[in-house]
Amino acid sequence: MVMYQDAKTQAQEDPKRFWAEQAAQISWYRPPQQILQENSDGTHQWFADGTLNSCHLAVDIHIEQGRGDQLALIYDSPVSETKATFTYLELRDAVARFAGVLSQMGVVKGDRVVIYMPMVPEAAIAMLACARIGAIHSVVFGGFAPHELAVRIDDAKPKILLTASCGIEVTKVIPYKPLVDQALEEATHQPDQVVVLQRPQMSAELKSGRDLDWYQVQEGVEPADCVAVGALDPLYILYTSGTTGQPKGIVRESGGHAVAMHYALREIYNMQAGDVWWGISDIGWVVGHSFIVYAPLMGGCTTIFYEGKPVKTPDAGALWRVIQEYQVQGIFCAPTAFRAIRCEDPEGDLFNQYDVSSLKHIFVAGEKLDSPTYHWLHELAQKPVYDHWWQTEIGWPVTAPMTAWGETSIRQGSTNRAVPGYDVQVLGADGQVLEANEMGAIAIRLPLPPGVAQTLWQNHERYLNAYLGAFQGWYFSGDGGYLDDEGFVYIMGRTDDVINVAGHRLSTGEMEEIVATHSAVAECAVIGVNDDLKGQVPVGLVLLKAGAQYEHETVEAELIALVREKIGPVACFQRAIVVERLPKTRSGKILRAVLRKVANGETYTVPSTIDDESILPEIEDNMRREGLVR
Ligand code: COA
Ligand code: AMP
Repeated sequence: MVMYQDAKTQAQEDPKRFWAEQAAQISWYRPPQQILQENSDGTHQWFADGTLNSCHLAVDIHIEQGRGDQLALIYDSPVSETKATFTYLELRDAVARFAGVLSQMGVVKGDRVVIYMPMVPEAAIAMLACARIGAIHSVVFGGFAPHELAVRIDDAKPKILLTASCGIEVTKVIPYKPLVDQALEEATHQPDQVVVLQRPQMSAELKSGRDLDWYQVQEGVEPADCVAVGALDPLYILYTSGTTGQPKGIVRESGGHAVAMHYALREIYNMQAGDVWWGISDIGWVVGHSFIVYAPLMGGCTTIFYEGKPVKTPDAGALWRVIQEYQVQGIFCAPTAFRAIRCEDPEGDLFNQYDVSSLKHIFVAGEKLDSPTYHWLHELAQKPVYDHWWQTEIGWPVTAPMTAWGETSIRQGSTNRAVPGYDVQVLGADGQVLEANEMGAIAIRLPLPPGVAQTLWQNHERYLNAYLGAFQGWYFSGDGGYLDDEGFVYIMGRTDDVINVAGHRLSTGEMEEIVATHSAVAECAVIGVNDDLKGQVPVGLVLLKAGAQYEHETVEAELIALVREKIGPVACFQRAIVVERLPKTRSGKILRAVLRKVANGETYTVPSTIDDESILPEIEDNMRREGLVR
């Protein structure tokens, strides 16, 4: 208790000293003298004059410290029936060679490289190779459609694009290369070269002059060494959903990120060098960046790189099998994965076939941990299950137990207390700090700690508006919730158009933009509806253009296909229904929050600004008939 309070107070009262001590725990080429500076627009700079290299910290340093023969990465792929291991020495050689390839292609510090790949070790090698030469990687999740990839290519303007011939989804082989070709047809910007990893499950056609084979390009190439980059130089751009079709390019600075990764891995997750850690996610998401690749490797752990699902590859015992096989000590997973496992193995028959005694604890985040799943998992695994909260912009946990300090208390429904370094408060509409147990906007007092994005790629204005504009002196998270008397934080969900589908962050605003492009659609609202497996799923409520005769079922099917084509299968947009009218305010704004409550069977108050009250019972009936009301 003393340690938590002391650390929290120290971080709040003297952030420079607190973070200078954390920064001293990592190996810089030039240790920073300037710890924290404020910019005139309210953003901050951490460790501005420090230089380092994130690949050096994740790979080479462990060889220098005598851990070269320790396993750095274990690749386990039930979908391709492949397993492989890399010691730190082997990983260094593979990364240095690929960094040499990129250098030979003319990639220099500050150039962008887009990575659109499945969960194969080459993807991690590519990320680290970029870091090695100071190039900025931008990984795009494989479940996104060509249009989404094209939007990101046009924003990041990569010199090189790295991909694979295919991904493997349970039993389906998904050709990736045709998706890349399609994206490049749509994109204005064109990379100089596309490097393709040919997988045995499916080989891709290579376009002459532009496309190159992953392994052929490595022949005879000189390995490249780590270059020094500035603490403020971007390590990566990761696009995440905002409220429009234009995703936000989150920029992660090298210095603050490295300091934050070390702090989080050690103090929150309680992992030490030599421990085996498994971040159960995908490199396309922030969890993959922070807790599959960078943090566990920077901490000298062995990281599990899993290409498979929690169920069906081959069954709901997959997680427990991996934990037993590699003696995993800590895991991080989205609650949806446990809901999927529970659905298929409710009594734990598969669980009982494995020995998971190596496991210290289970961390979950990415979406709300519902109480039945928490209790089921805790009783089954007999391990502490810690809910914690963060977001892509932030890059590492905001509220979490500091397990290394023995701070292991759990309040079911809470994502725990603020990690020292964050001052988390709940604000009212006019920016005042609310009392305990009062519901409001979850915000973090500036300065934000190291590692948190301070800008969006090529769009600083949008950053300022989206995050710092709502409340002067605060970062607004986009989440609503409350704190209890002892500072435990309860996240109640987004206050904007962002939803979480199977732990994947998606924009209903973007889906609306796509639905609205259909020639039959006059107006639409896409809302997130609660779902037992995926947490939330999007549902479209559509008003058709007057006068024309449209077959409702045809339009609905076309809309589903359209969203899948534009955003990708990951959107899980599987319901669109035609309605007669949509409830609006007198100023014409669709009452999406009320619609969400109707669909989720929650009680709602009719807003005083509503234009026509009679629409609500009508639409409720309509949604009930369609089986949309829970
Ligand atoms: N490449 C190509 N397609 C992909 C993909 C990828 N990397 N990932 C998902 N997809 C596709 C799936 O094949 C599926 O397509 P379909 O509609 O043709 O069947 C669609 O996208 C939806 O996938 P998903 O949301 O994964 O649903 P699912 O029913 O296949 O699996 C779960 C459900 C719960 C098992 C799965 O979502 C899961 O493991 N979730 C964990 C989430 C997670 O790790 N989130 C990371 C943030 S912490
Ligand atoms: P992402 O940027 O994809 O990590 O998504 C971040 C969003 O996911 C947050 O703003 C929250 O809305 C939600 N989220 C993340 N972790 C949790 C959690 N533990 N409980 C509830 N919601 C969460």
